[in-house]
Amino acid sequence: MSETAVDALTEAEAKSELARLVTEIKLADGAYYKDDDPHLTDAEYDTLRQRNLDIETRFPHLKRKDSPTDRVGAPLSDTFAKITHGAPMLSLDNAFNDDDVEDFAGRIRRFLGLGENEEVALTAEPKIDGLSLSLLYVDGKLQRAATRGDGAVGEDVTANAKTIDNIPHDLLGKGWPERIEVRGEVYMSGEDFLAMNSAEEAEGRKTFANPRNAAAGSLRQKDVAVTKSRPLKFFAYAWGETSDAFADTQSGAVNSFEAWGFEINPLFTRHTSTSDLLAAYNGIAEKRSALGYDIDGVVYKVDRLDWQDRLGFQSRAPRWAIAHKFPAEKAQTTLEAIDIQVGRTGSLTPVARLTPITVGGVVVSNATLHNEDEIARLGVREGDIVEIQRAGDVIPQVLGVIKSGGGAVWEPPKVCPECGSEAVRELDEKGEADVRRRCTGGLACPAQATERLKYFVSRRTLDIDGLGAKQIELFYDKGVVRGPQDIFRLEARIADAGLSPLEEWEGFGKRSASQLLASIDGARRPAFGRFLTGLGIRNVGRTSGDLFARHFIRWQTFWDLVERAAEEGIESAAAAELMALDGIGETAVKSLMAFAAEPNTRQMMDALMEE
Ligand code: IVH
Repeated sequence: MSETAVDALTEAEAKSELARLVTEIKLADGAYYKDDDPHLTDAEYDTLRQRNLDIETRFPHLKRKDSPTDRVGAPLSDTFAKITHGAPMLSLDNAFNDDDVEDFAGRIRRFLGLGENEEVALTAEPKIDGLSLSLLYVDGKLQRAATRGDGAVGEDVTANAKTIDNIPHDLLGKGWPERIEVRGEVYMSGEDFLAMNSAEEAEGRKTFANPRNAAAGSLRQKDVAVTKSRPLKFFAYAWGETSDAFADTQSGAVNSFEAWGFEINPLFTRHTSTSDLLAAYNGIAEKRSALGYDIDGVVYKVDRLDWQDRLGFQSRAPRWAIAHKFPAEKAQTTLEAIDIQVGRTGSLTPVARLTPITVGGVVVSNATLHNEDEIARLGVREGDIVEIQRAGDVIPQVLGVIKSGGGAVWEPPKVCPECGSEAVRELDEKGEADVRRRCTGGLACPAQATERLKYFVSRRTLDIDGLGAKQIELFYDKGVVRGPQDIFRLEARIADAGLSPLEEWEGFGKRSASQLLASIDGARRPAFGRFLTGLGIRNVGRTSGDLFARHFIRWQTFWDLVERAAEEGIESAAAAELMALDGIGETAVKSLMAFAAEPNTRQMMDALMEE
């Protein structure tokens, strides 16, 4: 989607953009914090927040009461009881380069009115990529544990937190305040994450995208036994409410945590100049890939607590601390081939197959090339040595050519590599070619069909346990599952095809076959938003799916309207009613109408409704 530059927005456009952004950010926050299943990359999310901030800066009077700028975290799920934090759990401002760190140190001096020669000690420690947890101890006993939630109110995960080995139930030593909220990060090591994921995969259960999601998903479990089985760890680095002062400095406080039985990060250091601070940053950056757990920067904090108090907070973050983020990691390697991946909407995405290389501790062998215009812009050819970049959990990107390998100019395929149907770049109303080339084979293309099925059962949509990419491909190849409705008739379809019962198939067995059938049965009444998203209609993702669900509540009300719009056209009252929703545009409504008008849709929907 092309966006108008913030400078070029009219006031009316800015207002509606802010409305759209607040919704998108809210939904993204929910997916990240509540569902532990982000649907945006960190970079996409940051872009949304930045755009929101830029518009607010240009039109301060348009800033909304519910502006994301003033909010951290997300609304809470209903699974856990709510706990109001004794002191709010806030976020950190970011520094991206040495200058930002100098500015931070300068701001502190100015705010405190310190002279040139007065020493300001700052601490440096890794920024752990996990989720924060607040532990309330009363008389040295762990009373309750809460996630950050929206910063003011978190979720009660006391029973879950008690299963984490290095969280003390009783504080050791003495000198602890009668009442104290000890705070820190719950995380999972890279090794534990990989082992856990392969065990989960072998059982046909969901896997997690990265250790952070795995830690969050493991802590926020209804079933405490599941949390207990997960290899979670905790580093203590901060505190909230305390009944008595227990230290004069940040370093003193962290030492106390250690004396009370907490694990503290071994790379915590104290410095008296910005240059030493930056040296500590570089030192931690060098150790990063060998640490065994993910970190995404270095946090600096003013050591003196009386100064922290004077500096205080500004909106979401303390003035006395900052997170110095690591830059995206780059590396050079050979582009062995450019392959085409066919997505569920038929889009052909060129993928760079690379000679495997370690970037920031992760082995990278594929990178996205986005689309053919991007390949032309970069001028990459098979055999070139290219520079790649990896930032956070974003898919690695190809930045450009370092050295040409003398290969031929890459030509986009004119037919789909999976089904041989024509592959075209559609023209929009203005006659401009879509950036994506698409396979025109529709559901006759096995790649599109299986990708759609995989999406239909994935975590973000129907979330059918035990039915992953591997199983979908198997069922598709055997001809037993060709459309979503077939999933719910799996046993009958297997029998009709003259195949032996599922429990006799290789890799299934009695238990996993009956578990799979049970989880399919459990998915017969999906939530509206998930179901709609799962249909995989172009331009109707989880965000619009949830918006329609919130507005219409009942599926049938919504679907009747879509069918009416499909029959009566975009000028109809039905189409207008769909477009009237805040955050829903004409593109999404047109795609819905096109989907409803497809000859197979009605039959498929009727069959699905029956199930
Ligand atoms: S200090 C008042 N120290 O980063 C701020 N935070 O972006 C107290 N984090 O919510 C936070 N490692 O979850 C602090 N060594 C560290 C940290 C750390 C990770 C997380 C924490 C916080 C987020 C802010």
